[in-house]
Amino acid sequence: MKLTCIIDEKKYDLNVSSDKPLSRILNEVIPTFSINNACKGASCGNCMIILDDDYTLACLIPAFRLKSDKIHKIQTYETFSKTVLAHDIERAYAEVGSKPCYQCYASKTLLISSLILRAEKAVEVESYISSRKGKAKNNLLDRSFTSNELIISGCECMELTHIEKIIKLVCEYRSKRNGIHK
Ligand code: FES
Repeated sequence: MKLTCIIDEKKYDLNVSSDKPLSRILNEVIPTFSINNACKGASCGNCMIILDDDYTLACLIPAFRLKSDKIHKIQTYETFSKTVLAHDIERAYAEVGSKPCYQCYASKTLLISSLILRAEKAVEVESYISSRKGKAKNNLLDRSFTSNELIISGCECMELTHIEKIIKLVCEYRSKRNGIHK
């Protein structure tokens, strides 16, 4: 099947077999993508990408789940690492004194970034509901939700409390910057 994808800001017209997982397609297009993707089956978490604005494991997406008549936008850690959000997360790693190990650094950083965006969304929704009820609230993510999401990364190199502190700090950096999120 034919696919058109913008991968890390470059456009590719691809001809792939429909049952090929996206992780293998990316391995061929971006050689560095395959460095730590060891499991090929939803165990290591290291094939994490942003596909059309959703965080997902590339090994779980067969090509036929993508549409031939659409241009799919894929971001890997390669370009994510150059964003302001990635720099904010690195700053919070340093401030908390905890960061992912070398093996899961890219995937866990992407996972943490997805939790930060969800936390911001949760605060927005919560603030909206609270303002309608006449009281202000500023909740981040529920602990069990955060810990469930982190299961996707098979590596236990960071404590949950550290990850929670990192998420909170990055949300603070970003809200101080008055809504400049990217
Ligand atoms: S290669 Fe996808 S989770 Fe390990």
